[in-house]
Amino acid sequence: MDTHHASEPALVPEPSGGASDAKVRVAVVFGGRSGEHPVSCATAAGVLRAIDRERYDVLPVGITRAGEWVLVPDDPTLLEGGRAEITAADAQVLVPLGAAPGPLVVAAPGQVPRELGTVDVVLPLLHGPFGEDGTLQGLLEMAGVRYVGSGVLASAAAMDKHYMKVVLAGHGLPVGPYTVITPRLWRTDRARALDAVASLGFPVFVKPARAGSSLGITRVERAEDVEAAVEEAQRHDPKVVVEAGIPGREIECAVLQGRGDDAPRASVPGEVVLDAPAAGFYDYETKYLDTAPLTMSVPAELPAEVAERVRTLAGECFEALGCEGLARVDFFYTDRGEVVVNEVNTMPGFTPFSMYPLLWERSGLPYPELLDELITLALERPAGLR
Ligand SMILES: Nc1ncnc2c1ncn2[C@@H]1O[C@H](COP(=O)(O)OP(=O)(O)O)[C@@H](O)[C@H]1O
Ligand SMILES: [Mg+2]
Repeated sequence: MDTHHASEPALVPEPSGGASDAKVRVAVVFGGRSGEHPVSCATAAGVLRAIDRERYDVLPVGITRAGEWVLVPDDPTLLEGGRAEITAADAQVLVPLGAAPGPLVVAAPGQVPRELGTVDVVLPLLHGPFGEDGTLQGLLEMAGVRYVGSGVLASAAAMDKHYMKVVLAGHGLPVGPYTVITPRLWRTDRARALDAVASLGFPVFVKPARAGSSLGITRVERAEDVEAAVEEAQRHDPKVVVEAGIPGREIECAVLQGRGDDAPRASVPGEVVLDAPAAGFYDYETKYLDTAPLTMSVPAELPAEVAERVRTLAGECFEALGCEGLARVDFFYTDRGEVVVNEVNTMPGFTPFSMYPLLWERSGLPYPELLDELITLALERPAGLR
């Protein structure tokens, strides 16, 4: 992570084009160090295409897999297709730390650093670790910059499938049975860990505690396959969560923070329908490769009282975790008619074709207006402790 302090070389201010002064300056930050790097780039492409250029000055900032921040051309075509990769180009972006928000700075080797001007709000379009998990949010808090979405605690708690369940269960919200395998438990008492898994019954879902996009997740049918699945999950996160398999439909609900003191707003629920999932669940390939048969059904065909229960629970999960801005809450609607929370995503997929924006579109808020709403919420929110 690059930081910049005021004592560094003299800066040449970027020429500011008169009319643009009234615009809100939005740094769109994407890419990043997680396995979801290309997904994040695709999301950024969607935002760059749709964001209202009359209202916003947009600064596209990519984060490489190594964690360097670089200024990226404002060209969505370079970021689409699911294979995009931010590379360390010559111009690095430096984030100033200090009490008052300072201008972002661009530094190219052998050149005098240039100021990019003060950013009014950061739109962090990062999924997974080092983006959606509170780390980036902490950096922005330290820099005194406003940003879209949840703060440090909610981001971190929602990212960790273990603590997310602890918080939700603590609020009486319905989560499924699970067990946690820490690296120490796995090393010192593997038999106990395996017993705890077996007592969940099969199938189980073995997951890295903090990943995303289904990376590192295995559906396990037999006790003898648990160890390999745990080791696979550990390649993504030393802490592993094992959950009882919950047979049912996958229902998702989009939540948007209320304005002022208003309660969170919940969209119509949607359903992810897998036609013939190869891995037997909603895995990475199904999520992001065009070949995989997947239908998003918006709104989900549900009995009215079930849809209402989903919307109520989604808002309660948002508040239980202390989310801000946006979140997508994912549920299982079981064969026995129960609604169980699977997870809360504080930076859900956000391309114009992703579930979160589609749910809002169907609920009367089209994509560009959804962006306006999120940026407005972030600007209304005080920086610092809140
Ligand atoms: N306990 C479970 N029971 C049944 N299916 C599950 C369970 N956990 C995960 N899945 C399947 O795996 C997919 C990915 O799991 P999820 O926890 O949502 O991970 P991610 O955070 O990577 O999206 C889900 O969408 C669902 O298809
Ligand atoms: Mg999921």
